[in-house]
Amino acid sequence: MNWNELRFDFNPTGGENVRYYFRNGEWSAPQFTTDETIPVHISSAALNYGISAFEGLKVFRTEEGKIHIFRPLENAHRMQEASRRLCMPEVSDEMFLEACCEVVRRNAEFIPPLGSAAEMYLRPVLFATKPCLTVRAVDEAAFVLFATPVGTYFKEGIHPIKVVIDRSQDRVAPRGTGDVKIAANYAPSILSCERAHRSGYGAVIYTDALTHRYVEECGAANFIALRGNQYITPDSHTVLPSITNNSLCQLAADMGMEVIRRPIAVDELADFDTVAACGTGAIISPIGTIFDLDTGEKISYGDEVSPRLLELYHRLLDIQHGRAEDKHGWLYEVK
Ligand SMILES: Cc1ncc(COP(=O)(O)O)c(C=O)c1O
Repeated sequence: MNWNELRFDFNPTGGENVRYYFRNGEWSAPQFTTDETIPVHISSAALNYGISAFEGLKVFRTEEGKIHIFRPLENAHRMQEASRRLCMPEVSDEMFLEACCEVVRRNAEFIPPLGSAAEMYLRPVLFATKPCLTVRAVDEAAFVLFATPVGTYFKEGIHPIKVVIDRSQDRVAPRGTGDVKIAANYAPSILSCERAHRSGYGAVIYTDALTHRYVEECGAANFIALRGNQYITPDSHTVLPSITNNSLCQLAADMGMEVIRRPIAVDELADFDTVAACGTGAIISPIGTIFDLDTGEKISYGDEVSPRLLELYHRLLDIQHGRAEDKHGWLYEVK
């Protein structure tokens, strides 16, 4: 496999994935297969009503050859919260970890070598298999987990992107499901996302659906802003609790920065030294320009990545790649 040519996408390897089925009140034993497809009933609640949740996490190989997954229990807990909100069977911590570890072991040859421009990504998906024609809670589901090597976002080094504020479409409702990682949150963002890409923007900044005055998320990533010694990120129950953002908050505190969670008004965006999106895929995507589609205002933060942001990025990357001490116990070793 040519690791350096990979895109951040599903890259087939022929490796094994796993499926568990929930029926009659219990989960089946894991079933491993190299089949990349799965039969789904035409009337399943996942296909028809979007009753489905997913996660994304990464796997790293250290110089000594150890294999680590980054904070998998956090993903397990987030998926459990999604289950509760969708009234679906829950995947326990143990089952989630078992699925991750076993799929990683069976795909170890596809973990990109240290130093290549690629990483291994795990995608757990939980979806309602129950055939039903009415919208209701289901007691039949499948939990699948697959691994794929992915190219890193920034092959030529981390660099600022252009984003757009688009209020024509809300990502989630004020009392909706923005704080859980469910499939139904992503479909409503497709149109504005596609429009942004066609106009040359890397992502859409979504504002709160009630007032459209506050920044919520940047594409499928959290929003962060730095000013002086402050690390500021939106405090909102409609923003997904990002594991990357939580980790960066801890690292910022370790660096002596003041970490503040509070609403961020669009009106104050120009006052920040630097802003960025963060998530598992890219860790940090610095934002160079924000264009507001409604007001026509353009805010520029420059073409350089701020040293503070770079330090945060490298601190997290170094822990993940085993180059820095894992002081907070974020790495889960696959034995
Ligand atoms: C809407 C949304 N916000 C934020 C994130 C970042 O979360 P994490 O850091 O856990 O990947 C993601 C990606 O999972 C996302 O889909």
